[in-house]
Amino acid sequence: MERLADIMIFAAGPGDAADLARVHVDAWRETYQGLLPAPYLAAMNPGRHAGRWRHQLTAAPLADVVLAAEGPEGMVGYCAGALVGEDVAEVSTLYLLKSAQGLGLGGRLLAACARVLQARKARSLRLWVLDGNVRARGFYEHLGGVGEGRRPVNGWGGGLTETAYRWADIGVLARR
Ligand SMILES: CC(C)(COP(=O)(O)OP(=O)(O)OC[C@H]1O[C@@H](n2cnc3c(N)ncnc32)[C@H](O)[C@@H]1OP(=O)(O)O)[C@@H](O)C(=O)NCCC(=O)NCCS
Repeated sequence: MERLADIMIFAAGPGDAADLARVHVDAWRETYQGLLPAPYLAAMNPGRHAGRWRHQLTAAPLADVVLAAEGPEGMVGYCAGALVGEDVAEVSTLYLLKSAQGLGLGGRLLAACARVLQARKARSLRLWVLDGNVRARGFYEHLGGVGEGRRPVNGWGGGLTETAYRWADIGVLARR
């Protein structure tokens, strides 16, 4: 188990791609066991994801924000977001390894991401959560996110839906 006091948050760069990919694959396997098809999770390939992260961090538009959290034994989580309209931010991904959950780190990462996006003139923030991800939905609701709108998720054999959570005032997150 990690300790919050030992974890630092920093802006990730292309050199962090392999660590981001490792956390990405491990966190997806931990989070989505029973929710996404087992063969898909088993086939996730850290090397392929590292290539995608490297590309995103090299070629990303200026609006992209990728923050990572690192403890004494390496990276344990990340959060990424972007401006998707003149003053609208979207967090596309927020994942922590199980060993780093429940310490306050997810809230901190989301708040840090919101602060960067607010500084880039975002006034509201939204994100999408798989409906079966009950824990994450409770977390977003606890932080003031309001559920608004569901949509089907493409892929994974169909049948999955996700819900949008919105913070009309990004400051609610940024001030945490
Ligand atoms: C969801 C996730 C990001 C939350 O991060 P976390 O570090 O575990 O949560 P924190 O410890 O920062 O919790 C922050 C606050 O939310 C509350 N909270 C956390 N989970 C909650 C839940 N399910 N229901 C209600 N409140 C919850 C905490 O009690 C804490 O409250 P406080 O600040 O008032 O004391 C993290 O558990 C995670 O990465 N899960 C796996 C990946 C995932 O599902 N990502 C989201 C994909 S959309």
